[in-house]
Amino acid sequence: MNQADKHFHMSEAYAENSSSQRTIGQITIGKAVESLAAMAAAGGKNCFYVLDLACGPGNLTCDLRDAIAAELPGRQIVVTGLDYSRMNVDKLIENSRGEIRGLVGSFFEASSLPDGVDLIFSNEGLHWQPPHEMDEIIYSHLDPGRKEQYIQWAMQNFKTALQNIFDSLADNGVAVLQFGNEGQLSALWRLIRDVLNQTGFSGYKPSISFPLFYPTLDQMGEAVKDAGFRDADIGIEAFNQDLTENTPEVITAFLRAFSEPALRREMDEDVVAAFYSAVSQKLANTDLDAFRKDAWHRTLVTLKK
Ligand SMILES: C[S@@+](CC[C@H](N)C(=O)[O-])C[C@H]1O[C@@H](n2cnc3c(N)ncnc32)[C@H](O)[C@@H]1O
Repeated sequence: MNQADKHFHMSEAYAENSSSQRTIGQITIGKAVESLAAMAAAGGKNCFYVLDLACGPGNLTCDLRDAIAAELPGRQIVVTGLDYSRMNVDKLIENSRGEIRGLVGSFFEASSLPDGVDLIFSNEGLHWQPPHEMDEIIYSHLDPGRKEQYIQWAMQNFKTALQNIFDSLADNGVAVLQFGNEGQLSALWRLIRDVLNQTGFSGYKPSISFPLFYPTLDQMGEAVKDAGFRDADIGIEAFNQDLTENTPEVITAFLRAFSEPALRREMDEDVVAAFYSAVSQKLANTDLDAFRKDAWHRTLVTLKK
C-alpha cells in the first residue's frame, strides 16, 4: 500500500455527520473574516487569495467564501481548498460548482502549498500526522517511552506544517488555524480501545491506529515561533466545548464518519457493522452528559506574517 492510500480519509458521510466540526468551524470562519477585514481596512489590495488547508469535502470552504464575500463586497476573492484526499478535493470542486479551486497535496510538503496567500484557514486538520505504525489506536495510550518518541516525531512534523504555512503567506498575510489540543476526545478514544479489546475485535487492534497529535499550548507556542512568527503577531486561544452529538446513535454516526475508512482497511463489512453496533451499545450504558462534557479541546490560533 502506498503512503497516499494508507493516509487517513473521511468517509462519504463525513459532511452529514460532523455537526461538532461545523459548530467550531463557524467560529473559525468568524475569526478568519475578521482578520481578513482588518487587512482589507489597512488598504492597498482589491484581490485576496484564500487557502482552506485540510478542507475535507469542502463542508466549510463554501461558507468561508460566502462570509468573506459578504464582508468585503466588490473585492475579488480567490479561494482554494487543499486536502490530501483526492476524493475530498473532487467533492469540494463539485459542491462549489467549480468556483473554488482544488489542490491535492499535504501540508507537510512545502511544494503543495501556493505562494502569496493572504489568508490561510484551517479547521480540524492540523492535528493529523502522516501514517505511523503503532499497536495502540492513539499515541496517548502508548507506554511512556514510546509516547515520548512519538511526540518528538510528531512535533517535528507539526513544526514543518507551520513552517510551510509561514512560507505560503504573503507579507502581512494571516493564518487562522483551529485544531485540537492535549487530551481532546480522550473519553471517546478510551471507549474505542475498550470495544476493540472485546472478543471478536481484539485481533484487529494491533493494526488499527489513528495518527494524531494534540499539542500542548507550550508546544504550539514553540512551533509557531520556530516557524518565524513574532510574539506580537501570535494569538493562541484555548477553550473546551461539549460534543454536540447527544445520543448513542448520533455519536456513533460521527465516529463512523471519520473512522470507517481506517477500519475498512482491516475489517470486513460485517465486522465493521458489528464494531459500530458494539460502540453504540456501550454508549447506551454510559453517562452521556459526562462523556460529552468538555470533550473538545479547541485551539484557535491567529498568526500574522
Ligand atoms: C476532520 S477533517 C476536517 C475537514 C474540514 N476542514 C472540517 O473542518 O470539517 C480532516 C481533513 O484533514 C485532511 N488531512 C489530514 N492530513 C493532511 C495533510 N497532511 N495534508 C492535507 N490534508 C490533510 C484529511 O484528508 C481530512 O479531509
